[in-house]
Amino acid sequence: MPVDVLLGLQWGDEGKGKIVDVLGHQYAIIARFQGGPNAGHTLVVEGKKYVLHQIPSGIFHPGCVCLIGNGVVLNPVILQQEIETLLAAGVDIRSRLLLSRRMHLILPTHRLLDKAYEQAKGEKKIGSTLRGIGPTYQDKMARRGVRLGEIESPDFAQRCTEVANYHLELLKLHNILPGEYETDLAEWNELFWASIERLRTLTLVDSEYVLAEALAEGKQVLAEGAQGALLDIDFGSYPFVTSSNTTTGGACSGLGIPPNHFGRVFGVFKAYCTRVGSGPFPTELFGSEAEELRQIGGEYGATTGRPRRIGWLDLPALKYACMLNGVTDLVMTKADVLSGLEAVQVSVGYQTEGGTTDRLPFRQTDALKPVYQALPGWVLADTGTLPETLEAYIRFIESYLGLPVSYVSVGADRKYMVSRTGQPA
Ligand code: GDP
Ligand code: IMO
Ligand code: MG
Repeated sequence: MPVDVLLGLQWGDEGKGKIVDVLGHQYAIIARFQGGPNAGHTLVVEGKKYVLHQIPSGIFHPGCVCLIGNGVVLNPVILQQEIETLLAAGVDIRSRLLLSRRMHLILPTHRLLDKAYEQAKGEKKIGSTLRGIGPTYQDKMARRGVRLGEIESPDFAQRCTEVANYHLELLKLHNILPGEYETDLAEWNELFWASIERLRTLTLVDSEYVLAEALAEGKQVLAEGAQGALLDIDFGSYPFVTSSNTTTGGACSGLGIPPNHFGRVFGVFKAYCTRVGSGPFPTELFGSEAEELRQIGGEYGATTGRPRRIGWLDLPALKYACMLNGVTDLVMTKADVLSGLEAVQVSVGYQTEGGTTDRLPFRQTDALKPVYQALPGWVLADTGTLPETLEAYIRFIESYLGLPVSYVSVGADRKYMVSRTGQPA
């Protein structure tokens, strides 16, 4: 099957960017299918770090076309900045970057609405990255959104103004248009319109046809997910989720690829858990235990710089994510971060009034109490082989999930990757 999918199985930041970079050489096209610049995918190539928000993580493979699909929401300013950063690093992606005409644009006023909605929620705020993601998807569903392909039409500016005026009315209704926002807006508008002009020099395509033609020619395609299964709009811990389908279904609708074309599904998870923003996190750690892992793992948001919440691996949640996504291959990252601990804990179920369960309940509250199992820790002496206790940890996970862990990442750089398939990655 020519289309593989790679996505996150937790609350995002599993290391998807790194894994796409490592596996990327096998694919002719790497395509993002949902999310937007709320994503921050980190690649470390020859010791240099790159964080991508809009561009697929295949950019460092010169033979690889990077496509941003219709299911994505686009901030043209951020895209432009990313292109320039890459250019400065000697990577000219422009000739192999394809943008779907059907993708929705994030307008400056979408970001204002994001701020306003979060502010109105008070203590119940989602902890959004405030990149305008929710309001842009909201407009898409309400059938008033602005699509990238409209930049080719003469009434583009008028369409943007109409939608922006509507947003300003909404903001007034919320009674939240302080001067601070107006200042931001003038600056953002200027940047937005400058970036639209630059967008005109890039390649806009009907990406569903591009992909269908590539598949007809037998080309290999990788669909790259953003966020993670537990942030999915339908299956995540609603309302503390993002505004798109982060699971495999999102790859069908976000690229226009029919289900019978899909092959392997790589599910990426950390050897522990992290979460940025609000929402339930049953295995969360606090105090010095959390702080130590946060420091060792560098667990600060790649998009917002916020400290990530830290917890033990949650196997029932991971099993749920595997079920939803039809995962065929697991990829475990950051095994090195736990190195040196005497023992590690994993959640194997949750306590309920009726006993323990390995199912994620509809109501995921902070009161959900995990049932832990302790396993021996490991010391990662070199990055080429896995110590026996780490192998035992992996076998425990495999047996719980009924799926193989094909690759284990033991460092941020692309060279730190152990294959358990018998073939190099
Ligand atoms: P993504 O959003 O899923 O692509 O993940 P992020 O890039 O937001 O966060 C993952 C972080 O962990 C980044 O800083 C990566 O460079 C880093 N990383 C990825 N894999 C490993 C690993 O195996 N070990 C360590 N120590 N860091 C890793
Ligand atoms: P990558 O692709 C981690 C979280 C936010 C917030 C919630 C909603 O790097 O894994 P939004 O901005 O979508 O309105 O935020 O989702 N979130 C992420 N957390 N990694 C991400 O992306 C995320 N994208 C959104 O912190 O809790
Ligand atoms: Mg990230």
